[in-house]
Amino acid sequence: MSLTTYNDVKAPDLMYGTAWKKDATTDLVRLAVETGFTAIDTANQIIHYNEEKVGDALYFLKEKGIERDMLFLQTKFTSLGGQGGADNAPYDASADAATQVRQSMESSLKHLRTDYVDSYVLHGPEMRIGLTPYDLAVWSTMEELLAEGKTRSIGVSNVSAEQLELLLKHASKKPAFVQNRCFAVNGWDKPVRDICTREGIIYQGFSLLTANPQAIDHHFVRELADKHGATVPQVIFRFCTQIGMLPLTGTTRKEHMKQDLDCVKFDLSADDIERIESIVL
Ligand SMILES: NC(=O)c1ccc[n+]([C@@H]2O[C@H](COP(=O)([O-])OP(=O)(O)OC[C@H]3O[C@@H](n4cnc5c(N)ncnc54)[C@H](OP(=O)(O)O)[C@@H]3O)[C@@H](O)[C@H]2O)c1
Repeated sequence: MSLTTYNDVKAPDLMYGTAWKKDATTDLVRLAVETGFTAIDTANQIIHYNEEKVGDALYFLKEKGIERDMLFLQTKFTSLGGQGGADNAPYDASADAATQVRQSMESSLKHLRTDYVDSYVLHGPEMRIGLTPYDLAVWSTMEELLAEGKTRSIGVSNVSAEQLELLLKHASKKPAFVQNRCFAVNGWDKPVRDICTREGIIYQGFSLLTANPQAIDHHFVRELADKHGATVPQVIFRFCTQIGMLPLTGTTRKEHMKQDLDCVKFDLSADDIERIESIVL
């Protein structure tokens, strides 16, 4: 099974995240793809990601016959506030928003050794509340990059329900993806997921294991794992895929990569899904 965006871009069931892998990025991306991942998430944000090393992995994979068009590549534009200082920014920090986005995209394409990405994501609005004129200028430049074919879809990350509604109001092209940290205590980000369902936006969830210790430790989830001969992380990821979410995992271990991918090999019942949705509310 795979997901399809409202503008007809196919995305796989699970995505491999490359944050915090530093010098191990190349080897881990190669391992992830060789283990079966076909979607890779990165960002042009040197303090948390090494996009260039993702590109190195893609180069080695191509030599092994895995071509660019066999993979779904997603990267992000990160505004200055998220870059850890102007010196780290992959653009002229004093330039206007449109120039920054274009320079960041050109740098990403160079790092990733490609001439397009499958998804380009605004890493987050500048402020926790509302959208600034800068955010809207960034979005409108991302819409231009979409029209120019530099990216096949656009998305937004780290948004509240209120910010997503604002973006929908102002955007000419709505996001195809929302990527958020997904807390079970908030109904697995239900307010944002509900908007995504209404608008045909694919919700990408991260920190599904690390942000949800109460769900992971819950006896019901452990019982489900036993029932299906699965691990607790597999039950969490399967729950996510069955509710239409695209989960991210950044595991560094081959056995966990395989387990995460294999989560689609069993099905949870509608009752079980309903129970997990409100498990730690
Ligand atoms: N947009 C944003 O602002 C943002 C922020 C954070 C992350 N992200 C993206 O999301 C990706 C994933 O990040 P994340 O926060 O979800 O954390 P993560 O890097 O996926 O870490 C999850 C933890 O879960 C463990 N794990 C994974 N699969 C497991 C399994 N089957 N069994 C047991 N343990 C397992 C991993 O340990 P092992 O390594 O030992 O398996 C790791 O300690 C990132 O790499 C990045 O691409 C985006």
